[in-house]
Amino acid sequence: MSDKRIIKIFDTTLRDGEQSPGASMNHEEKMQIAQALIDLGVDVIEAGFPIASPDDFKAVQEISNNFKGAEIAGLCRCNDQDIDRAWDALKQAESPRVHVFLATSAIHREFKLNMSPEEIIENAVAGVARAKGYCDNVEFSTEDAARTEMDFLCRVVEAVIGAGATTVNIPDTVGYATPAHMGAVIKGLMDRVPNVGDAVLSLHCHNDLGLAVANSLAGIEQGAGQIECTINGIGERAGNCSLEEVVMAMRTRSDFYSCDTGINSRLLVPTSQLVSRITGLDVQRNKAIVGRNAFAHEAGIHQDGMLKEPTTYEIMRPEDVGFGKTDLVMGKHSGRAALADRARQLGFELSDEQIRVLFKQFKLLADSKKAIDDSDIAHLIERQLASADSEA
Ligand code: KIV
Ligand code: ZN
Repeated sequence: MSDKRIIKIFDTTLRDGEQSPGASMNHEEKMQIAQALIDLGVDVIEAGFPIASPDDFKAVQEISNNFKGAEIAGLCRCNDQDIDRAWDALKQAESPRVHVFLATSAIHREFKLNMSPEEIIENAVAGVARAKGYCDNVEFSTEDAARTEMDFLCRVVEAVIGAGATTVNIPDTVGYATPAHMGAVIKGLMDRVPNVGDAVLSLHCHNDLGLAVANSLAGIEQGAGQIECTINGIGERAGNCSLEEVVMAMRTRSDFYSCDTGINSRLLVPTSQLVSRITGLDVQRNKAIVGRNAFAHEAGIHQDGMLKEPTTYEIMRPEDVGFGKTDLVMGKHSGRAALADRARQLGFELSDEQIRVLFKQFKLLADSKKAIDDSDIAHLIERQLASADSEA
């Protein structure tokens, strides 16, 4: 039996992801994404923020009523009206989760909430207790946790677990943390909160410094059991932890993390493409895991290595994330071995001399054309064969 810990994947593409500037989705599109997330095998779908708008309410309600196989979460601020509205949307779900949040950092307490530390704790406990009256599965998020004083964060986490929170989420709301910092926050909570064993600790990292995936993994190393993330890493500002990256990091380096998830990784690329098409947010070409270049090789030395043994230059198999196959891109950096291989794939068995001539012509063409496709190569070969025929 495997001794790997299974980390819960909480997908918030439909909530935090939808908060990406320019990424709103219509109702039908949200249903398509919800189905794709179920197929992908996420543990929790955060379907929306029910009090935010009638559309959000309807999306959470319809996903709750119709989709089985994952917990369905609805977000609410820490007040009765929000919590009641969230429950109203969630109540038919097979496995509902009420997700209550309240900021804990000094900056938010002073400038946004105008609340004392004691008032934060009082409100947090009251919010969890109200949600608990509806549903056993309650998540509490300490918004801006990464900038919260550690002693105070420990007090809040202990109080909300005492009130019945089953998951406590530790967000780096503004993407300020570093991996060592986030790891220390989770370790501090694990070591210092006496009832921490009664709840799952979760991470929700934003990507303002490009560290969301690294910060999430650092928390996992210290014992957190859930990661909040989005497809393609979409979300507020620079986005959230990218689901495909964090899942493949844990799987590819399970030797290091001793963790895995229930994600069907072969659906990562199709799900990424669906979300990109629906939101209109392009996936960066060189994005890890799902970018078009993630399994493309152009350098001759790399192509030669790939043809001899794919593990020379690939740490994952493209088919394991849903790509067809490795792409040996033919361009000015390509080598003779890749060209010979491509010619063979195109149905031409060429002699060493024919390959030598072809390679020379190919390099001349590559200097004037950025990408060379199969029809260019076939054309060069046919021209060479035709001129040999006419000389014969
Ligand atoms: O970034 C954040 O803090 C959030 C919370 C509501 C979980 O999105
Ligand atoms: Zn967020």
